Amino acid sequence: MNQASPRDFDKVAASWDEKPQRRLLAEAVSAAIAESVHLHRALQVLEYGCGTGLCGLQLASKVGWLTAVDTSAGMLEELRRKTRDLGLENVTPVLIQPESWTLPNAAYDLIFSSMVLHHIAATETLLYNLSQALRPGGTLALADLQKEDGTFHDDPTGVAHHGLDPQALITLLAGLGFTSLKTRTVHTIFKERGADEHGYPVFLLTGQKPR
Ligand SMILES: C[S@@+](CC[C@H](N)C(=O)[O-])C[C@H]1O[C@@H](n2cnc3c(N)ncnc32)[C@H](O)[C@@H]1O
Repeated sequence: MNQASPRDFDKVAASWDEKPQRRLLAEAVSAAIAESVHLHRALQVLEYGCGTGLCGLQLASKVGWLTAVDTSAGMLEELRRKTRDLGLENVTPVLIQPESWTLPNAAYDLIFSSMVLHHIAATETLLYNLSQALRPGGTLALADLQKEDGTFHDDPTGVAHHGLDPQALITLLAGLGFTSLKTRTVHTIFKERGADEHGYPVFLLTGQKPR
């Protein structure tokens, strides 16, 4: 298994939004987050692995401030352009290098990510770091592929996990003290595989950091 390289995402950034299935997925994930979390204009929110902002820009106008971090300068450039075009003033794109970037402590009311966990080998470390960055009582919302047979990505470069088991994530988060842990399927991505169409379910897991 290998880690995602920022350059791989830089190369596809300009055309990232062109695939309708990515936009549909982001709509489903953002809608599910908005259903599960009480969003309001006082919330400080972090999106981890924001890409071009397909999810984040749907939620930005419903929250106070959105800090959108990613390792790919190209993806963030697209996000900056879209943010300008939409006239949004409450979005801060931040380029990070996970090895040298320290998440601020207890800074966010909501942290969410979509389709990022499967690119990161050290799941446990990431969950711990995100948990530290949440305020007591804050919400974590993680969307990703459910465990799949390895056929989802046409190019497996940068894929650390063939999907994830949401129940295993719940166990890890419960170990960090999270409560109200819930998971549900919020979307299914369909791809042609050989003569068949293969469905890849996407879960949204939510949980609350203890007060
Ligand atoms: C599959 S894309 C999803 C982008 C966006 N969330 C969406 O739903 O369209 C994965 C994103 O995670 C970013 N990424 C990969 N590894 C990362 C890491 N270790 N930390 C933060 N972001 C990362 C990539 O640059 C890319 O933008």
